[in-house]
This record gives sequence, structure tokens and C-alpha cells, in this order.
Amino acid sequence: MKIETQLARAGLCTDEKTGAISTPIHPSATFRHESLGCSTGFDYSRTSNPTRAVLEKEMASLEGGYGGFAFSSGMAAVTAVASLFSHGDHLVLSDDLYGGTYRFFKKIAERFGIRSDFADLTDIGEAEKAIQPRTKALFIETPTNPMMKISDIAALSSLAKKKGILSIVDNTFMTPYLQQPIKLGADIIIHSGTKYIGGHNDVLCGIAVCATKELSEQLGFIQNATGGVLSPFDTWLVIRGLKTLALRVDRSQDNAGEIAVWLSGRRDVTAVFYPGLLKGRDGEIHRGQSRGSGAMVSFCMKDKGQAEKVINSVKIISFAESLGGVESLITYPAVQTHSDVPAEIREKLGITDTLLRLSVGIEDCQDLIDDLKQAMEG
Ligand SMILES: Cc1ncc(COP(=O)(O)O)c(C=O)c1O
Repeated sequence: MKIETQLARAGLCTDEKTGAISTPIHPSATFRHESLGCSTGFDYSRTSNPTRAVLEKEMASLEGGYGGFAFSSGMAAVTAVASLFSHGDHLVLSDDLYGGTYRFFKKIAERFGIRSDFADLTDIGEAEKAIQPRTKALFIETPTNPMMKISDIAALSSLAKKKGILSIVDNTFMTPYLQQPIKLGADIIIHSGTKYIGGHNDVLCGIAVCATKELSEQLGFIQNATGGVLSPFDTWLVIRGLKTLALRVDRSQDNAGEIAVWLSGRRDVTAVFYPGLLKGRDGEIHRGQSRGSGAMVSFCMKDKGQAEKVINSVKIISFAESLGGVESLITYPAVQTHSDVPAEIREKLGITDTLLRLSVGIEDCQDLIDDLKQAMEG
């Protein structure tokens, strides 16, 4: 079955008794036992819930993994995955990483003795150099947020295997529709399901998928023990979002491609970062490991004043954090998503006060271009 069909059928007829096309919502916190030692398979909703189980199974299948886990936010998924590690362990993280993930590892995980260093994972040599005797995992984003740097998932996963450590990929930007890192050798996938998976800016969600039974058992234990699970109501919204993932991503991606080209042709835009514009090795790697460029476009205006003018003048595009919804959003990474990354690191990575990040939605493309044009020229 093609992934488009699988997505459209997400959660279909999971209730055999009624044949309900839509997944039933089970808001029960607990489940009655017929007698001692006799369970329906559901005991308590933190451990497992019938609605959540549908989404978790779908996500595992879509990513080609063994076990899926749904959390109350992307950061809850990151926290649960980080709980696989212990005091004294060390992780190597993509240097250009979602700011919240940076904040979690530097300001929370370090207090629990889980150390981390950042490395340019687009360079396998740099990745290898960063691995220490206590390193337990590589944490990869590709394309990175917000600079769209590309890492070679297969090469990093095979390096991780050679070193006896895990490879973890945050697949939020690409979704399993465009990129399936487990099939390239990764051990764990993380999503902010708040983004493309949910797709409508109306729900917070995190997803983790493990490649093996052993890792799934460990993460399932952590999910139950720490408890940041997705509610049945929110799960239902996410399943509904999944059904249209392919359509939404296709449309947003077409729009993003056109907008990236339009931005590249403007004198007042000094740089455009979009996987579809990449030439040479990075472009080749991205095209080899994914089936599209996605719908995230970052770009630099000539100066800070111009960047602020665009933010303050857009009318159709909303100035808001987040991404991956049907509505286009514009974000100021240095001030919003990446404000917790120290200024000198931001500067080094190119996350300057002239950089804007566009999450392109499904609107009419010309309307979006006209909106950007009036915001830049008005
Ligand atoms: C790439 C990436 N990973 C993780 C997260 C965290 O997800 P959430 O906001 O759902 O907690 C985000 C949020 O923006 C993100 O962009």
C-alpha cells in the first residue's frame, strides 16, 4: 500500500463492533477488569489508551519502526527519549537544532548529569571527532531548524552503529511522508506532532518511534513512568490531521518551492535557505534520503529594520511561532524559537536578527507572494 493510501486510512474502522469510520475517542482514565488477572489489554490510560494506541500503531507503521509512542508535546517526546540515558552519559547534538531542544539538553538534562556537545553533523568527520568514550547517541535534525543544513542520515546512522551508540532523528520538518530515517538506519524518530502531523495549529503533540522491540520496551516503560502522554481528545485531532498529511505537504511544498525561487530573485533578500535550492553535495544527499524539499523556507533581509518591517506588515501570513499548519506563519528565530541559544552561537550559525523563517501553508501561492511583496515594499 502506498503511503498516501495508508495516511488516508489512518485510524479507519478500528472499532470492529460498530465499524465506525472515525476512530472512537475513549476518554476513560481507567478500565474495569472482569476478574483478577483478566484484562482487556487496557488498565490505566497513562500506560495505554485505546485511542492513543491507534495513533501510536499508525506512526510506527508510517515510520517503518517497531513501536510508536504519543506524548503531550514534542518536548515531552524529547524528554522521554532523553530519559533513556543516565548520569554521566554524553550525547552529540546537531549544532543547528530547534531552540527548545537546545534549552532542554543544556538547562535540564545537564542538571541530571546527561552531558551534550554540539557538532556540525553535516560533516561526518566532525561527528566522529565529537564522539567521546561516554557518548551514547547522535541527535540529528535534517534539514535543520532554521538554517536547513543537511546531514546524511544513513552515514551518521552507520557511524553510530560502528561506535555502538544510538542515532536519533527529529523528523518534524520532513514527516514520514517525505523522509523515513528508520529505513536509513536510524534507531529512534522524534516528531513535534504539533506541526505537520497535526497540521492545523490546534493541538500540541509529540511522537517517538523506535526501530526495535528492545528500544520500544524501554521507551514504553519511560512513557508510563513519566506520564507525559497525549490525551484521547488530542489524539483524535492528530489522527484526523494524519489523514490529509500527503495533500497538505504536497500543496505547501509546491507553494514553498515557488516562494523560495521568488525570494531568491529579490535584491533586498540577501540569502534564501531551502532544501530545494541546494546544489552540490548537500542537495544530492537531501534528494537521496527524502522525496521532497518540504515547506520551510528561511531567508535574510538586508538589515534588521527590513526584517522587522516584513514581520509587522504581513497581512495574510501570520507572525507567530510554530510551523507545519495549513496557515502560513512567519517567525523571527533569533527572538522567538531560538532565543535560548546563546547569541554567539546564534551568530556563528547564521541565526541573526535579519533571518526570518517561513512556514508555508496551503493558501493560494500568488496571494502569499503578493503579501510578502507588499510587506517588503510597502
Ligand atoms: C524541530 C522541532 N522539534 C521539536 C519541537 C518541540 O515540539 P513542541 O512544540 O510540540 O513541544 C519543535 C517545536 O517547534 C520543533 O520545531
